[in-house]
Amino acid sequence: MRYNIVKDANRILKDSKYLIDRPEQYKNKWKDLFGNNNPIHLELGMGRGSMIIEMAKTHPNINYIGLELDENQTATAVKYVGDQKIPNLKFICDDAKNIINIFGKEIDTIYLTFSEPWPKKNDAHRRFTDISYLKLYDRIFRKHKHIIMKTDNKILFASGLESLSNYWYSFKTVSMDLHNDERNIPNVMTDFEKQYYKEKRQVYYVDAVFDE
Ligand SMILES: C[S@@+](CC[C@H](N)C(=O)[O-])C[C@H]1O[C@@H](n2cnc3c(N)ncnc32)[C@H](O)[C@@H]1O
Repeated sequence: MRYNIVKDANRILKDSKYLIDRPEQYKNKWKDLFGNNNPIHLELGMGRGSMIIEMAKTHPNINYIGLELDENQTATAVKYVGDQKIPNLKFICDDAKNIINIFGKEIDTIYLTFSEPWPKKNDAHRRFTDISYLKLYDRIFRKHKHIIMKTDNKILFASGLESLSNYWYSFKTVSMDLHNDERNIPNVMTDFEKQYYKEKRQVYYVDAVFDE
């Protein structure tokens, strides 16, 4: 899928009430920003954000934050939301590496959706399921650890399962073919996923938990 360039992305982000500028100022205060103590679910690398927008509309009692590095993608997410009023939704345009500066122990679930696979061995440390990232997530999970990962990339999926299990996560649900799984696993598609669904491409899924 092509990444689009959004004219005036900067201005769109600046004018949006969904985009949180300087998110570090809300560290340990996200509940105040949302005005409630509901669970907070975070998507890393949300792209154009259609999954998280849809989920926020469906589950008003969960707060959703979509984090994305690229301004153009984030601006597209802002444009998707348009005039809709979704009080339980916020966006952050930042690098996932910075999450420990943005959140205290406030996050209940992390979604890793079609993340960059970094297939070369030398780049494996950049994968969102690398142990270095799992250690960062430890510092922002509120109580229980909960990660949901979807990908079309076999290498990323296999290495993700390996590092999650080495890090003592257990698997509530694993699917090797999410869209054709007889269990009808609840799922809202991302933008990439919609394209892969049309192409009948296999999508891998894991719902992993760690309860102390
Ligand atoms: C393949 S796209 C998937 C987008 C979306 N999750 C979807 O499924 O449609 C991966 C996204 O992760 C973002 N990304 C890559 N590295 C990132 C990082 N370090 N921090 C935040 N976002 C990142 C990219 O900019 C891109 O939008």
